[in-house]
Amino acid sequence: MSKKTDIFYNNFSTLYPLVDIFYKPQKRKLFELINNLPFGQLLEIGVGNGTHFQLYKTHKVIGIDTSSKMLEIANKYKKNNITLERMNAESLSFPDQTFDYIVMSHVISVIDNPEKMLEESYRVLKPNGRIYILNHFTPENWLRCFDNSIQTISKRLHFKSVFHIESLKTIKKFTLLKEIPFGKFSYFKLLIYCKA
Ligand SMILES: C[S@@+](CC[C@H](N)C(=O)[O-])C[C@H]1O[C@@H](n2cnc3c(N)ncnc32)[C@H](O)[C@@H]1O
Repeated sequence: MSKKTDIFYNNFSTLYPLVDIFYKPQKRKLFELINNLPFGQLLEIGVGNGTHFQLYKTHKVIGIDTSSKMLEIANKYKKNNITLERMNAESLSFPDQTFDYIVMSHVISVIDNPEKMLEESYRVLKPNGRIYILNHFTPENWLRCFDNSIQTISKRLHFKSVFHIESLKTIKKFTLLKEIPFGKFSYFKLLIYCKA
């Protein structure tokens, strides 16, 4: 985690609800799937402002984030089955094989070192545990040009506009179970992986 990302998200925390409006339909689908899973220990990485916590109907949830401001807001939405901790996803303090499920919603293209986050996720996930990755993924259509063109701006906004999941070598440790595209151009997707 870089100090810059942390400062950015601390400052951005009050404006984040505006961005979040666009993510709401994807999140509804994500949590519909999550709530249908057998009860388990769930780690959510980069919880942000936590306005989605109401969508968690089951599971024992631990939410982590590096931004103290985001966590401050998230605390207001916390329910009994949710615990929050300030922690860096690149260096998790949980023992091996702790979680049945891990959720990463719009985090993988934000975090400084996604390889480390995936390595740590692999370590703390139980055998056959699942990871739910919701994000934008640069497609092989005209949107690729769009992602290319906003690279400078996206760096300033602390995310990678050009993002290919296959570029991460650690993702190959997991087995892809399902890919759920959203919208007309499938720019956003929910990828479900399993620790085989
Ligand atoms: C774009 S927001 C997504 C928030 C929420 N998951 C959502 O879907 O609305 C990314 C979040 O990841 C957090 N984050 C960035 N780097 C992190 C790291 N190394 N460890 C944990 N959280 C991190 C940021 O502070 C921010 O709250």
